[in-house]
Amino acid sequence: MKKQLEQIQQDAIAALNAADSPAALEELRVRLLGKKGDLTAVLKQMGKLSPEERPVMGQLANTVRANIEQVLEARKTEINALVLEKKLADEAIDVTIPGNEVKMGHEHPMNQVLQEIKDLFVGLGYQIVDGPEIELASYNFTKLNIEEGHPSRDRSDTFYFTDDDSVLLRTQTSPMQIRVMEHAKPPICILAPGRVYRKDEADATHSPMFHQIEGLVVDEHITMGDLKGALVTLMKSLYGEDAVMRFRPHHFPFTEPSCEMDMQCHKCHGTGEVNGQVCSTCHGEGWIELLGAGMVHTEVLCGCGIDPEKYSGFAFGMGLERMAMRRTRINDLRLIFENDVRFLNQF
Ligand code: PHE
Repeated sequence: MKKQLEQIQQDAIAALNAADSPAALEELRVRLLGKKGDLTAVLKQMGKLSPEERPVMGQLANTVRANIEQVLEARKTEINALVLEKKLADEAIDVTIPGNEVKMGHEHPMNQVLQEIKDLFVGLGYQIVDGPEIELASYNFTKLNIEEGHPSRDRSDTFYFTDDDSVLLRTQTSPMQIRVMEHAKPPICILAPGRVYRKDEADATHSPMFHQIEGLVVDEHITMGDLKGALVTLMKSLYGEDAVMRFRPHHFPFTEPSCEMDMQCHKCHGTGEVNGQVCSTCHGEGWIELLGAGMVHTEVLCGCGIDPEKYSGFAFGMGLERMAMRRTRINDLRLIFENDVRFLNQF
């Protein structure tokens, strides 16, 4: 029996030293020390021994068990350390590997042009103001001298929120003229860019949502010469010193006199023809319409509590998309709204 015990100890220690994983170690523990293990099997034979031998063997069995347990513990510590080491090595981060490139966004050509226009007007002393896109019909129309029944108030052109047509998506930035004049005293000098909405089908030149930039200057002795000066300065700064503009008489209910400003077509230089064909950029017109403008109507000034005997003012409203398209030579409005980065990255 002594031999048997010594053999068990020897085999156990060899097996423990050969084990290389926590699972293998656990399996060994059960096989060596468990109820159905080798050591228990030997101890079960103790009954067959003589009373003198029994304590001696009992002692030896305990020693063997203690030795095995000791080696098991030591091996467990070793294996756990190895496992941890391997895990750390496997999960190590190689900080020298180049990272994934972070793709930066790109400023939209519309914002680039808007920024340029704002910078110019701020330099001329204008203040940038912002106003609501959900507007009252009284601001969008009535206070701008646009009477009930005017075609632009029609439900087929304007998005209304209420059955009584009193709340709508603004169709122009001109209500900002009223919002400013109702509260500020002249001198007034503001620029109000923003979104506007009209029931247009989307095509190459129309979208139900687009952007306008409204300008308003009210002070003593303001004339159409001031209006022309501001707009020509803007156009030359955007399109170059040789840009050619023309002002045409027009009609708006809230300005008097009113005009529209066109820019000579850059493609056909005003001839309306390219290589004997009708110019595709201006459709043979030779000119491209850029904005509406005029002297603020006396009715509108009075309605806002500004004395037209003392003060006069000019206002203009331009389409930002059109300005941006001219500036960047984009020929289809839809490209501006699609936000395809492959397209935007070109600017
Ligand atoms: N609001 C006008 C439009 O949308 C443009 C405009 C603005 C005309 C200011 C005159 C003065 O067509």
